[in-house]
This record gives sequence, structure tokens and C-alpha cells, in this order.
Amino acid sequence: MELSPELVPLVNARTPRYTSYPTAPVWKDEVDPAWQDECLAQVQAPASVYVHLPFCAEQCSFCACNQVVAGRRDAGTRYLDALERQVRGLALPVERLAVQRVHLGGGTPTWHTPAELARLVGLLRERFDLGAHGELDVEADPEITTDEQVDALAELGASRISMGVQSFDDGVLEAVGRPQRAERIGAILGRARKHGMRGLNVDLMYGLPRQVPEVFARDLDQVIALRPDRLAIFGYAHVPWIKPHQKRLEGYGLSTAETRLELFLMAHRRLAEAGYQAIGFDHFALPGDELAVAAREGRLHRNFMGYTTLPDLELIGLGTSSISQFRTGFFQQTSHLSRWWKAVEADQPAIEKGMRLSWDDQLRQALIMGLMCNLRLDWGQVAARWSIDPLEYLAADLLRLRPLQDLGLVEVDDRELRVTDRGRILVRNVAAAFDAYLHQPGVEAGPRFSRAI
Ligand SMILES: C[S@@+](CC[C@H](N)C(=O)[O-])C[C@H]1O[C@@H](n2cnc3c(N)ncnc32)[C@H](O)[C@@H]1O
Ligand code: SF4
Repeated sequence: MELSPELVPLVNARTPRYTSYPTAPVWKDEVDPAWQDECLAQVQAPASVYVHLPFCAEQCSFCACNQVVAGRRDAGTRYLDALERQVRGLALPVERLAVQRVHLGGGTPTWHTPAELARLVGLLRERFDLGAHGELDVEADPEITTDEQVDALAELGASRISMGVQSFDDGVLEAVGRPQRAERIGAILGRARKHGMRGLNVDLMYGLPRQVPEVFARDLDQVIALRPDRLAIFGYAHVPWIKPHQKRLEGYGLSTAETRLELFLMAHRRLAEAGYQAIGFDHFALPGDELAVAAREGRLHRNFMGYTTLPDLELIGLGTSSISQFRTGFFQQTSHLSRWWKAVEADQPAIEKGMRLSWDDQLRQALIMGLMCNLRLDWGQVAARWSIDPLEYLAADLLRLRPLQDLGLVEVDDRELRVTDRGRILVRNVAAAFDAYLHQPGVEAGPRFSRAI
């Protein structure tokens, strides 16, 4: 696929990432603690759990995650003490809730010592029952993750490690302030495999400073040689209005739409040649990996933690900035660490934002997730599940899709909507047509979101 001039506005369009719908910046402030307790008391088992661990050894200049560089090591203990209060105080319907997945994300969970990780997992197991087949996933920064930590995680029952790599190139890593030794990446993957972990993931980024096509081609060669089961290829999201430290990168010049598309297409081509299957638009997996199998069978789901093979489970978020996702709404704990600490230590709710989902929100959430996961909507299924005539109810949305249809990115008939091969990489733009909040009068997609590619 070439970047024909008519695609440039789509590549540059600011679109939500659609790990949730409605997307967090448009949430209303529905923060009634009684409602949170009500959702928790009615949570359906099995559920899933996300724990946010915000600490990192250093701050990468590109980072858009909620993270802090802790001045003192004992911040880890204080954080776990607070998490303990939060976990023990959860108003769950049972003492120990069945869950299918626990995800430790960050920040960098492996900033914590093996003893701290053991304390955390022990605490979680007190209230959550992962059973024999539950998954425990952990995000890790290869530079600070030691062999002992990988062994400790295996001992604690971790099923999967997801590693940030971003680039292998010294020039890029220097520009973004991320010291990293390539040999640690292979060593961690090898050790995790020996322990029987599967679904091992590596995150790579494109559009970073100095990451010209030849550099990115080498990044791809190096990651392919390591053969992780899964890969996420994230376009650098430059959002300095939310993350002012990213301004440090502006001096290097940011990649143009043309370069970003070139890099993204290169990733698709090279990974396909190397035997990887595209999942959604920015994830890839080896064909035998369960994510790839689920994608082929149309069983993929997506939430704040990315793509998953598990059905639509309700999600309990723990820790600063974590998001809980229930059938009827979302809420997010404060991202401000000292405010979070203060609230939790005083046994006060730490929720900062929330939103109840209307029937229309829930319908659109299902449509957008269907597109992001399976690149297709079956009107018969939509009609049966939502008791609507989709072509009539969604007439205005389908009208918005016309220009994308004319460009051959999407095909619509009275049976289904299909994102074409040409449209796969612009699926965020297709999903955006169904986003009621982007199209409300007076509401601008504006600079709140990153570029589509
Ligand atoms: C919590 S980090 C992963 C674990 C660990 N902290 C690390 O960096 O190795 C999550 C991932 O988000 C991605 N990420 C962070 N900032 C980003 C940005 N501005 N644009 C796109 N992706 C970003 C990176 O690929 C990163 O690996
Ligand atoms: S990319 Fe990872 S290691 Fe770097 S600052 Fe963000 S969360 Fe921390």
C-alpha cells in the first residue's frame, strides 16, 4: 500500500486508541463511591484484575504511561501497604472471587524486588482465585529485570511476560533516554521460556527520534531473530499537552505522516514474511499462539490491557490511575500518586473519574470493539443482540463512512461491514465513525488524541 495523497488527512487525524469506549478523556465525572461499591458487589465471576505499579528506574522521554521515578526505595513498601488496604477493603460479593486473569502493569512492575512481588501476588491470591488455568501477566523493562526476578515470577505462577523494547538502536535509545542492553532481552525471553511461560510479548515503537527507515528495518530484524510469541508495534504518540516531558523530543524533529506510514507498512510486510499474523492493526502473533488462533476464529476481545482471548470479563482496577470496567460503566482512580496515597491511607475512595454507560454507549462500545478486534460487523448479529435495524439506527454513522468506502478502506452491504486489507491499518479511523462523542456539536477530536498511525 502506498501513501496516496488522499490518505494523508486520515493518517494525521487524531483518533482515540479505542482500548475503551467511550474513551477516557470524554468521561463524565460520575464518581459516586456508592456506585463503585454496587458494581463491585455485583461483579460477575470470573472477572479479571489489573494492578498498576507506577515506579520506574528512569523516565523515558517518549513515555505516555502513568509512571514516576521513585526517589526512595521504600516507596515500594509504602505503595504495597496502600494496595494491601485497598485489596482487603474491596466490597466483593464473596471473600475470594474467581478470576481468569491478573495483569501487573505500569510503570515497571519489575522495579519491585522479588520479595515485594511475592508479597503482592500473595495478597492478590487472598482475595482472587486464579484456579489452575488463570493467567498472571507481568510487564517488564528488560534493563532492570534480573534473572532472579524472572525465576521469582515463574515461582509465583506468572504465565506471561510482556517486555518494553521500543528500539535496539543505540542512537534512538540515547535520544529517548532509555539505556538498554540488547543481550538482556534475549536472556529474559530464554529464561521465561525455560520456565514454561508462553505468549511472551515484546513492544516495539516506530516514529521515535532518529528512527529512520534503515534503523527501523534493523529493529525489525533484531526482534524477529528473537522470535517472541507476540509483538505490539506502537506508533509514538506525541501528546505533550498531557505529558510535557515529551517536549524534550521536539528538538529532534518528529516523523512525518509519510515516514510513519512507511515504517508501519514495513512492519506489516516484514512481520508477515517472518511468519507473524497481524492481530487487529498493531499487534502480531505467531500462528500457533492462542491470540492468533482466537483472531482467526473471531474470538478476540480488547480492553485497557490490550487484546485478549478471554471473553468480555469485568475488570477490577487496583492502584493509582487504574481503570475498572464494569458492564454498566467505568471508573478510574486518581493518577496523582500522592493524592492516591492520601486517600487510600485514610480509607477514602481514590476514584477521580467515572462514567455510567447508556444503552447507546454499550451498543457503540460493542461495535467499536468488534471492528478493532475482528475488522467486521455482522448486521444480523447486531440486530439480534441489540434489537435494532442497524442500517436505520446507524444511518448517520454509515454516512460518515462514505469517504472511507470511496477510498476502498471499508465495504458495506446489507449483510455486513468489512474493513478491507487496505483499511486494516486505518481501522481507528473506521471505528471513529461510530464514536458518538467525537461527532457531538461543539466537541472536537482536537489535540486530545494521538495520530491514527
Ligand atoms: C508500561 S510500558 C512497558 C513496560 C516497561 N515500563 C518498559 O518500558 O519496558 C508500556 C508500553 O507503552 C508503550 N508506550 C509508552 N509511551 C508511549 C507513547 N508515547 N506512544 C506509544 N507507545 C508508548 C511502550 O511501547 C511501552 O513498552
Ligand atoms: S516506557 Fe516503561 S520504563 Fe520507560 S518511563 Fe514509561 S513505563 Fe517507565
